[in-house]
Amino acid sequence: MIRAAITAVAGNLPETVLSNKDLEKIVDTTDEWIITRTGIKERRIEKDLNKATSDVAVPAVLELCRKRGISPEEIDLLICGTVTPDMMFPSTSNLICAKIGAKNAWGFDLTAACSGFIFGISTGSQFIMTGKYKKVVVVGIDLMTRILNWEDRSTCVIFGDGGGAVLLEPTEEEVGIMDFVLHADGNGGTNLNMRGGGSRFPASHDTVENKMHYVYQEGQSVFKHAIYSMAEVSADIMKRNNLKAEDITWLVPHQANKRIVDGTANKMGIGPEKVMMNIERYGNTTAGTIPLLLWDYEKQLKKGDNLVISAFGGGFTWGSVFVKWAYDGSKYGK
Ligand code: COA
Repeated sequence: MIRAAITAVAGNLPETVLSNKDLEKIVDTTDEWIITRTGIKERRIEKDLNKATSDVAVPAVLELCRKRGISPEEIDLLICGTVTPDMMFPSTSNLICAKIGAKNAWGFDLTAACSGFIFGISTGSQFIMTGKYKKVVVVGIDLMTRILNWEDRSTCVIFGDGGGAVLLEPTEEEVGIMDFVLHADGNGGTNLNMRGGGSRFPASHDTVENKMHYVYQEGQSVFKHAIYSMAEVSADIMKRNNLKAEDITWLVPHQANKRIVDGTANKMGIGPEKVMMNIERYGNTTAGTIPLLLWDYEKQLKKGDNLVISAFGGGFTWGSVFVKWAYDGSKYGK
């Protein structure tokens, strides 16, 4: 049986750090409130308006190729999970491919908000498992600060910019993407969205005046759905694969709120030492959080480690992916 293995991981973050203290000068908030309610201390922000999502993705994808010793021309397919594409079209995937010279690849953007990366690796894995492709790149990246209302303290303190990418390749070993469970419920769109700029509300003076080109979130409602759904889908993937808490080496949870992560880990019976976390440094980078976690923890990952990757996001979208890590990260990690 052919499986899709993650054979390399890379990330990229803008250099500028925006701390909670900096935010105190912009909106009516406090460092203490943000840390207590979310776990976030600081986030990165791409201040250079000449740089769009594809520009921040390119160094990550090039680093991926360098680490694996391949040329961009060897990439068959590039899927980009993002809700902050450079523009409505062409796709950010196509722009990344053009910039790196991946001239034999096709690709598309995948809109699943914070679940963009797990939807992306699940989709990409199918092209590997069928034998159709040998090299699929999945990018998860967002420049959330480009769609934040800096007068809305309930959203502007949560998000940050950044993301990363993984390479999927075929393997016949007992490693790789072993299983996934994905869900979506469009009814959740009323709780978390960006309404302006599409065919329902094309950009106009009204959409700008009514702040419809910014993230809108009903925080408490999203919180309740997130904590319930992430815990439930993680328990489901454990059951389907006969995984007990002690079998799991790492929980890799989307970084929206430390309290959501803690609730999920508790339900799975997993202690904090097995939970990848970086929300305190980057905030919620939407599709970017999971590749950034894998990049940050790569050095600690060993071949055969059992990873449960779980996410919840706008849509609503949510799911879990069970991955058996395919290589010894100590040689490659930062
Ligand atoms: N600083 C200080 N006070 C703030 C604040 C801020 N940045 N943001 C909100 N508040 C206030 C509210 O106005 C409210 O005040 P009130 O009681 O006087 O009305 C109070 O804090 C509590 O607000 P509430 O919205 O209930 O806070 P919360 O504990 O739910 O935390 C979120 C807010 C957004 C952090 C939280 O709901 C959350 O993480 N939601 C889910 C996000 C998520 O998972 N998204 C998934 C897709 S990415």
